[in-house]
Amino acid sequence: MTGKLDWTGKRLKLDVGPVAHGGHCVARHEGRVVFVRHALPGEVVLAEVTDDPGKGFCRADAVEVFTPAEGRVAPPCPLAEMALGHDRCGGCDWQHADGATQRELKATVVREQLQRLGGVDREVEVRELPGGLLRWRTRVRLAVDRVGRPGLHPHRSHRVLPVEDCPIVVQGALDGLTDREWPSGSELEIASDADRQVHVTQRERAPQRRRGRRPAVVNTRVRGSGIAREEAAGRSWELSADGFWQVHPAAADTFAEVVGRMAAVPSGGVAWDLYGGVGLFAAVLAEQAGPAGDVVLVESSRRATEDAVANLRDLPQVTFRAGTVEEVLADDSLPEPDVVVLDPPRKGAGRHVVEAVCAAGPRRVVHVACDPAALGRDVALFAEQGYRLDDLEAFDAFPMTHHVECIAAFSRE
Ligand SMILES: C[S@@+](CC[C@H](N)C(=O)[O-])C[C@H]1O[C@@H](n2cnc3c(N)ncnc32)[C@H](O)[C@@H]1O
Repeated sequence: MTGKLDWTGKRLKLDVGPVAHGGHCVARHEGRVVFVRHALPGEVVLAEVTDDPGKGFCRADAVEVFTPAEGRVAPPCPLAEMALGHDRCGGCDWQHADGATQRELKATVVREQLQRLGGVDREVEVRELPGGLLRWRTRVRLAVDRVGRPGLHPHRSHRVLPVEDCPIVVQGALDGLTDREWPSGSELEIASDADRQVHVTQRERAPQRRRGRRPAVVNTRVRGSGIAREEAAGRSWELSADGFWQVHPAAADTFAEVVGRMAAVPSGGVAWDLYGGVGLFAAVLAEQAGPAGDVVLVESSRRATEDAVANLRDLPQVTFRAGTVEEVLADDSLPEPDVVVLDPPRKGAGRHVVEAVCAAGPRRVVHVACDPAALGRDVALFAEQGYRLDDLEAFDAFPMTHHVECIAAFSRE
């Protein structure tokens, strides 16, 4: 009898094939698929197997490059360097590629996911946002290790790599945080707002009081007011610093412009802003619909809904529903929409929500998606309901990582 196949620790010489979703490329070795990080398509690398579930595939990390691809560069961050083997930081995936190559890799992934999961063939261009590859991240969460040092996790690991700085985080956001000790096991949630005010919340599990009960989370504000001020869509915004706001400083403004252009709500029209957060897109839709229009914002976070109500108090045509999209759409008392905008979390909208949106019969649907696989699945669901994908823009709102933001427009066939 043969034991379980386990190549962990083995070093393999690999001809690296195409990029795959998730920040790695695909190679093959002795009939098995190897998902290899820190390589680029077309390279020949030596890679160390980091994790082997014993099935048809394993995961590896390039430790030496024999034939570098044209787009390869030296990573600007020491925690992304080759010599560190699989102790590299898991926060970035493409530090070893230049900007144009990163955007081309992401475009390939979006194209492939749309084709494979959405059944749609289309060219995709991933556009750059202003500001370059470094110092763009305005929100970051640091974990604290056993001896109190804050840091980031390696890929697929709970270990903590202590950091002094992170070159993709905006300048100054980590100042005075990484050179002191924090309670072991806690987390630091950091937000740097439009005024460069840094807000830091320390998050800790309270001691367990009753066996079997999950311990409560205790949040302690350690820096800043906790109210972030942001600018986008020609407006000033105030929101809870640990609530959702786009992480790239140019993203909120860019996405609001694209969503507005794709939505084109008629004057006096009705729009739904599902997963509306603090109201970024609802503000744009409300301006288009005008005072005689009707915009309904649906958001599950009570705190975000309160922030939305305060931020949009000059737009009485917006009404607010605090609850999950699933619950609110089930209650079918929403006005019939001309346009629906949805901006779901990573898992996408899913069958239930797509069917409920389409049943309401909007002329147009605008879908903002941070995961191309989830978007691909939703594209197929919209197609089942007779809604065709007719516009798609993609943005590199997360340079150095594999993440990419897509905004897709559907209309009824
Ligand atoms: C990606 S954010 C988008 C926020 C907003 N559209 C923006 O651009 O700032 C997703 C939002 O959906 C909310 N959310 C998550 N799951 C939800 C659900 N099932 N129903 C309603 N809102 C949900 C989150 O609280 C978050 O505010």
